[in-house]
Amino acid sequence: MSNPLIEAKTLCRDFKLPRTAISGSRPVRHAVADLDLKIEVGDRLGVVGESGSGKTTLAKLLLNLDKPTSGSITFKGQKLSLSDMAIFRREVQIIFQDPRSSLDPRMTVEQIILEPLECLDFQQNHQSRIEQVLQQVELDPTIWLRYPHELSGGQRQRVAIARALATQPSVLIADEPVSALDVLVREEILQLLSGLIESLNLTLVLISHDLSVISRLCEKVVVMRDGRIIESGTTQDVFRTPQHQFTQHLIASVPRLPTIK
Ligand SMILES: Nc1ncnc2c1ncn2[C@@H]1O[C@H](COP(=O)(O)OP(=O)(O)OP(=O)(O)O)[C@@H](O)[C@H]1O
Ligand SMILES: [Mg+2]
Repeated sequence: MSNPLIEAKTLCRDFKLPRTAISGSRPVRHAVADLDLKIEVGDRLGVVGESGSGKTTLAKLLLNLDKPTSGSITFKGQKLSLSDMAIFRREVQIIFQDPRSSLDPRMTVEQIILEPLECLDFQQNHQSRIEQVLQQVELDPTIWLRYPHELSGGQRQRVAIARALATQPSVLIADEPVSALDVLVREEILQLLSGLIESLNLTLVLISHDLSVISRLCEKVVVMRDGRIIESGTTQDVFRTPQHQFTQHLIASVPRLPTIK
């Protein structure tokens, strides 16, 4: 059998918290604890869980932006060495929640998208690649010379998606990509993401507290609590017949529109 694309084994990430007045020692937060996860090529995997359950910490570990306290992550069966890092970064890209803070305010749209192409030594012509990705995210080319503050929230998130797609990644990790957007823009960006994931055949890890976003984009889901995966399966099975009491609570707490009489 072939290796999973990304595999985490007994992954742990502890954070030492500030010393407390009472004990004098530094308490430890187990943000990710003994977590095993396999991501196969073409998976569309949702990660759900309450605030503080370790979702963003897990994303950073999967992206090699943070180091595990113990346990391992492999990419295509290999532990990553520094020399593989540029290839890994071209292949695995991230979209963050808030494009206002994830885009450098001193850079134009062109410079923002150019940066990963230059840093990661992307081989095609950079200008034509910028044109292509701006088209893919349906942004008008006249936007090239604008700065993030001159864009709407939706346009900014499109630029963030364009930057993530610039190096032609095969994996996209999206941490709450639409939760900073208002309802109508959220719908537009979701449709765009969904179309791009299909057309570019991307493997997706999508973190969202919004279960409807997960059920639209993901076939599989894992539920996190206190740094651990407490339930996993197809999105349909987990959302229709949740086994764990916490997942049942999570699903029951989804707000529904009141019936209008
Ligand atoms: N750099 C850090 N230093 C100390 N504690 C941290 C750090 N980063 C995260 N934590 C703690 O680790 C736990 C998991 O945090 P994380 O950000 O991964 O949660 P999350 O599931 O992404 O939450 P949210 O849904 O609110 O984004 C939390 O208790 C958080 O306070
Ligand atoms: Mg988070």
